[in-house]
Amino acid sequence: MSRKPRTSAPGAAKGADASSFTLTDNATGQSWQLPARTGAFGNRLIDIKKLYGDTGVLTYDPGFTSTASCQSDITFIDGEKGVLLHRGYSIEELASRSDFMETCYLLLYGELPTPEQKASFDADIKNHTLMHDQFISFYKGFMRNAHPMAIMVGVVGALSAFYHDSIDINDLSQRQLAAHRLIAKMPTIGAYAYKYSLGMSFPMPRNDLSYPENLLRMMFSNPAEEYKINPVLARAIDRILILHADHEQNASTSTVRLAGSSGANPYACIAAGIASLWGPAHGGANEAVLKMLEEIGGVERVGEYIARAKDKSDSFRLMGFGHRVYKNYDPRATVMRKTCHEVLGVLGIDDPKLKLAMALEKIALEDDYFVEKKLYPNVDFYSGIILKAMGFPTSMFTVMFAIGRTVGWVSHWKEMLKDEDQKIGRPRQLYLGHKKRKYIPIDNRGHTDKKTSWSWLWGGR
Ligand code: ACO
Repeated sequence: MSRKPRTSAPGAAKGADASSFTLTDNATGQSWQLPARTGAFGNRLIDIKKLYGDTGVLTYDPGFTSTASCQSDITFIDGEKGVLLHRGYSIEELASRSDFMETCYLLLYGELPTPEQKASFDADIKNHTLMHDQFISFYKGFMRNAHPMAIMVGVVGALSAFYHDSIDINDLSQRQLAAHRLIAKMPTIGAYAYKYSLGMSFPMPRNDLSYPENLLRMMFSNPAEEYKINPVLARAIDRILILHADHEQNASTSTVRLAGSSGANPYACIAAGIASLWGPAHGGANEAVLKMLEEIGGVERVGEYIARAKDKSDSFRLMGFGHRVYKNYDPRATVMRKTCHEVLGVLGIDDPKLKLAMALEKIALEDDYFVEKKLYPNVDFYSGIILKAMGFPTSMFTVMFAIGRTVGWVSHWKEMLKDEDQKIGRPRQLYLGHKKRKYIPIDNRGHTDKKTSWSWLWGGR
């Protein structure tokens, strides 16, 4: 990876602040001044870039709860107030007045597009919706019952084996080509994962349709019949994609940045992001919400499950509740709740799961445990219900999240490659293992009287 030229003097960091923090080692009495930085708005930060070099001391922050891993212009979240802005525009306004393609342009290029820029961006995305014909054989290598997220990780990673003209990250036109290709192909890749599980042929994308319409058609059309697009459902899909488009330095975005920091190609980086998103504590939560509602079964059992969620000896958590950053209502959940009612109204669905979800929401919002810990419903709480009502199988929920989030991932990857402060991500650790010890040959190690249990060897929390 070639080094980025410096355009500003070292030390003239964006957001540099005249003030500083003092770090004192109470054991030696030695003190150091650490520079402060302030973002456009939001928290003040202690800049510890030079801490280790200057002091030999490391910081310990598992889960990065107090660490800003990068500087970014893309998304701002105020978790205490429940604010989410993309490039300065509120998520509520984008969800109600913009569309997904425009939001993609905004995230990727920093400004809302002019009509000409929007038309040219739309056209370029449509130009890349098709998959290479050989991908059909690639899909056939998967088991029919493979989880679609497993297929997504494999297929997106494999794009780098098909599109050699867009993996040189030092070439700006190749970066752009890869970014547009990824946004364009994700609906096709996701819909094909579903069609493959059904044993159905792969429908061609239709470039006369909008992004959400095309996605709906590829998912649900039957080659023997005409598919009629319901505009309310297409708008709901568009909104779901906007609401998932970016969310600052979450686990999957940080994974994409970390993978990209080594100079890995964009397709490999996005595949890494998809793998991270799959986990139930992140994008897999919408699938987990539905499974939880099925397990609870009825409103009469809500109390029992709330009690389980509060019980420290029980690993059960209320899926779709809580967020690392939001300690207030997730603004995306407010929009999603409204969309949820619209979709169920149009489809005429009186879903008992929605009634159960509403009862759960009400009780949890009033319960001392959830109130004190500021655990509010998050975006996944409602998205699963909407997608289920539209006919998406549960296993496709996280795929929909991945389709929406791809633009966020590529925007952060693009920003990272331009950042003068960017280095290969290489965290350190607090080592708690053995000090240096001598190797003992196997015959001198004594014997265990019974077979060591695997659960003990793998155990922990
Ligand atoms: N149900 C019950 N208790 C919870 C829940 C929950 N859903 N979430 C957090 N808590 C409790 C924890 O037990 C902990 O209690 P303690 O302080 O007494 O030990 C406290 O609240 C803080 O929880 P942490 O796990 O430390 O918070 P963290 O910020 O690490 O976790 C997370 C955030 C992973 C989202 C968590 O709230 C969770 O597991 N929620 C359910 C899964 C979910 O909905 N994930 C979707 C995230 S949003 C997204 O990816 C779009």
